[in-house]
Amino acid sequence: MGVQANIAPPAERAGEAQLQSIRLVTAEPPGFPAPATARVAVIGLGYVGLPLTLGFAKGSPAIGFEINAQKVSELEQGFDMTGEVSGVDLKSAAVAFTTNPAMLAAADVIIVCVPTPVNSHNRPDYGPLVAASRTIGTHMKRGAVVVFESTVDPGTTEDRCLPVIEAHSGMKLGLDFHLGYSPERINPADPTRKLADIKKIVAGSTPACTDFLEALYGRVIKAGLFKAASIRVAEAAKILENTQRDINIALMNQMMMLFDKMGIRSSDVISAAGSKWNFHHYRPGLVGGHCIAVDPYYLVDAGRRHGLSMELLSSARQVNEQTPHFLVEKLEELMPPARHGLHCKKVLVLGRSFKEDCPDTRNSKAFPLMDALWMRGANVFNFDPIAYDDHFEGGRGAKLIDDPGAEGPYDAVIVTLAHGCFREQFDADALKALAHKHAPLIDLRGNFESAAVTDWFNYWRP
Ligand SMILES: NC(=O)c1ccc[n+]([C@@H]2O[C@H](COP(=O)([O-])OP(=O)(O)OC[C@H]3O[C@@H](n4cnc5c(N)ncnc54)[C@H](O)[C@@H]3O)[C@@H](O)[C@H]2O)c1
Repeated sequence: MGVQANIAPPAERAGEAQLQSIRLVTAEPPGFPAPATARVAVIGLGYVGLPLTLGFAKGSPAIGFEINAQKVSELEQGFDMTGEVSGVDLKSAAVAFTTNPAMLAAADVIIVCVPTPVNSHNRPDYGPLVAASRTIGTHMKRGAVVVFESTVDPGTTEDRCLPVIEAHSGMKLGLDFHLGYSPERINPADPTRKLADIKKIVAGSTPACTDFLEALYGRVIKAGLFKAASIRVAEAAKILENTQRDINIALMNQMMMLFDKMGIRSSDVISAAGSKWNFHHYRPGLVGGHCIAVDPYYLVDAGRRHGLSMELLSSARQVNEQTPHFLVEKLEELMPPARHGLHCKKVLVLGRSFKEDCPDTRNSKAFPLMDALWMRGANVFNFDPIAYDDHFEGGRGAKLIDDPGAEGPYDAVIVTLAHGCFREQFDADALKALAHKHAPLIDLRGNFESAAVTDWFNYWRP
């Protein structure tokens, strides 16, 4: 039988000696809380953590712990900068948003959703995960179930995070608490596939823990749960999904570059090849953000530690990183010969976030694209009415504008992605009004192709 009900939170604990004696007396692993009513705390209230917190708050009041005090204050006022959760839902949710880690002592389950970025050398930065593990170790109660959701290379939960939790809590996995991993698969800005609609993988440190996680997540996930064979398998599954996507888009980007030299349009090729049932539909594009463009580096680093050079992954990353530069070279090529390249030309870049209809600008490849234009002497103007600029990475010379019409006419236009609002705002006439006749227009997603547009612009799409 579990003993957690009789044990005070860590802050009030009498000390490690007392805990050891309790262990000797009980010599039994702690039980699990009731999955239907377990109190859940989420660490990290971003794209992943916030919807999850609200989902779990429907079963019993949840705790949302965050180190960013401004975010906590915004959430308390009903504003979610990620756009994933409505103000109405936020205000009515039974969630205590807090920057006070001591509140974690009240949680039966602690779920970690902190970022897993790379550093300036594209090496994994485990800093946020280690910091969160330290916080958990300092504050969790005995009997807690700790679950990691952040995307990581296999082994991170058990080999990096667990030792930190044990060291800071003085508790032992299995004897005092449980551990699990459940990768998040949400697709931000996708109105049709929300958290509850995506099948979720769960894995616990023991089969009983996996069963508990299946029941717990059943509270919020309607699409079903998949019990992975182990925590490492669950970690590997998620990072494989994202790496597969990165490699496939890299293939399309590389082929776009070759086909373009051959005078062939990639979209025509993809339509033709896609007439076969087993062709995989990927399109060329700018691969940015903090998932697809980052996660493969964790595997490249893991390969290095295991004596493997992950050449396919590294090459795919390289191709995707080169794509903004290819587009700038393409634009130069499309400029009328008499106008001497991009120097002093006004170039409008439509799009700054890394993904369609998503405000997230982290690691957006619009930034290196704008940097490369600026390096060629262009006057760069950038318009993206939905971008949320808490991460402005590069784009040094670009002027961010609210009204693209006011700064025109432009000598060239690049549309990096097709936000719904772009399609609404720019019909053919509105687009034509932005630029001189025969100005190059690079339409990376091919959303603006029409006779009126291609007659006016020197139009190019992959
Ligand atoms: N956004 C996605 O589409 C997505 C999808 C699947 C998986 N993931 C993965 O989920 C994880 C989180 O991603 P995200 O997009 O939600 O990140 P995010 O940056 O939107 O949110 C993370 C939050 O964690 C907070 N934080 C950082 N360190 C903290 C700490 N020590 N204690 C408390 N809070 C802390 C940050 O302030 C931030 O608000 C990453 O590993 C990511 O790869 C993201």
